[in-house]
Amino acid sequence: MRCPLCRILIAVTLLCNALLLYYTWHLQFRSNVRQGTLPALAPGITVIVREFRTFEHGLSDLNQSFLRSRPSLHLLIASDALPYPPDPGLRILKLHPSPDQPSFASRLESYIHTRLVALVPDGTALNPPDLLDRMARGLRDAAPGIRIVAAAAGLPLQCLHLNVSLKEWTASYRPTTTGESCGAVSGTAVLLLRSRDLFELPYPLARPLQSAIFIQASLRGWGVQIVEGVTFPRTPFPATDHGRWKADQAERQEEAKTMRALGVRLVRGLDGGERWFGCSKETPRCFGTVVGETPEYLYEGRWTPPCCLRALRATARHVIKVLEANGVRYWLEGGSLLGAARNADIIPWDYDVDLGIYLEDVTLCAELRGAQGGSLVDADGYVWERAVEGDFFRVQYSQTNHLHVDLWPFYPRDGVMTRDSWTGHPQDVEFPERFLQPLQTVNFAGGTAQVPNNYHQLLRLKFGEKAIEEPEYPNPALLRLRGR
Ligand SMILES: *[C@@H]1O[C@H](CO)[C@@H](O)[C@H](O)[C@H]1NC(C)=O
Ligand SMILES: *[C@@H]1O[C@H](CO)[C@@H](O)[C@H](O)[C@H]1NC(C)=O
Repeated sequence: MRCPLCRILIAVTLLCNALLLYYTWHLQFRSNVRQGTLPALAPGITVIVREFRTFEHGLSDLNQSFLRSRPSLHLLIASDALPYPPDPGLRILKLHPSPDQPSFASRLESYIHTRLVALVPDGTALNPPDLLDRMARGLRDAAPGIRIVAAAAGLPLQCLHLNVSLKEWTASYRPTTTGESCGAVSGTAVLLLRSRDLFELPYPLARPLQSAIFIQASLRGWGVQIVEGVTFPRTPFPATDHGRWKADQAERQEEAKTMRALGVRLVRGLDGGERWFGCSKETPRCFGTVVGETPEYLYEGRWTPPCCLRALRATARHVIKVLEANGVRYWLEGGSLLGAARNADIIPWDYDVDLGIYLEDVTLCAELRGAQGGSLVDADGYVWERAVEGDFFRVQYSQTNHLHVDLWPFYPRDGVMTRDSWTGHPQDVEFPERFLQPLQTVNFAGGTAQVPNNYHQLLRLKFGEKAIEEPEYPNPALLRLRGR
């Protein structure tokens, strides 16, 4: 090059570029730190052991096995409490925040610096040493929707379909059909996923770990894949009968706590059968006093918890049985009649059951007579009482759980069914007695119930023309079904 000035110019330009690059990188980095995003993660795998019991475990052997096979692995043993008796050879990450420690001390992000994490149950060994690498390749090569790979720890895994409906507070599992991808696996598994994905979960290490992870993954549409041909050897812990008994007790409590945190009240199809969380005769009703016919859960985009619907159905069937046994003429009223017309059940967002009765029949039934004077607890624990709010009867699921069926006493006057006081709800109006002559029987809430004849016509009279075909929340002025 002939021109010395040109050389200097080129050098200066390059230097300026480099400075500019450094400056923008610096700005970017600072804004990342301000927004709480994480610094880059390094290649490698952090092994997290969460599923173990502090009173009987095989953590030392697990530590030995993993670190001897792969000295570069990072091993994190995460627990709410420290193992007892303590094991000086183990380093435990205590998840339970301590008031004298900074908040990041109990945060997972502070301890994971690799791109991948493996969640490994107690008793597992890394043999042969390349098992985790094969899982990592499985994740790398998986279809884009697959965010978690699973490998058997001990016994083979089964692929499951998982559907979580927060609106219905329900997680439903079933075996997958051929060609369908998994949303969960049954059996004890080692799970491998990207650390950033784990950080995205609000409950990354809730127990039971596998169901908590799969439910949160399902809500994000993440698929799970079983890595074929990879099986970790595993010795189950606890090994003693007493230890296993204690572990089962603890797991049941953890599961209830986690499902409540996740907003799941019914788990269907895992290990067969149904498991319910919350809502018994001994627990209070799981929503507060209803204002403006719009229970609190509707504002959160959710329908009536399935355990409440189940308790309401049981209460309705019980009340109907008692009324029929005593010859009390009754019929489904209001929203319950609407639910019967739509799908033979309580409307999925309804919070009580309404029945009409003939006022003059109240004397036929000991429970109603008892209720008139105050309140009566029947042999099955249901509470019959006069409602404090007005001129009607109320049957509660139990003394503690106030889910209820309301009984509205009507009497005929000049061929019209009427009452002395009204709720003010638009559907709560007089109607011709001919709808009750005769009554007819339909399926309702898992049993049968009496309804007015021509009840479709009666419903149109009470709720308007399209009420049956076009569902709407009870008080559209406050909240609409399709408005959200
Ligand atoms: C695993 O064992 C080694 C020594 O055997 C120990 O230094 C290390 O702290 C252990 N790891 C954990 C996570 O406890
Ligand atoms: C998921 O479950 C809900 C109710 O439990 C159901 O309405 C919906 O159709 C299900 N979806 C799939 C894909 O199975």
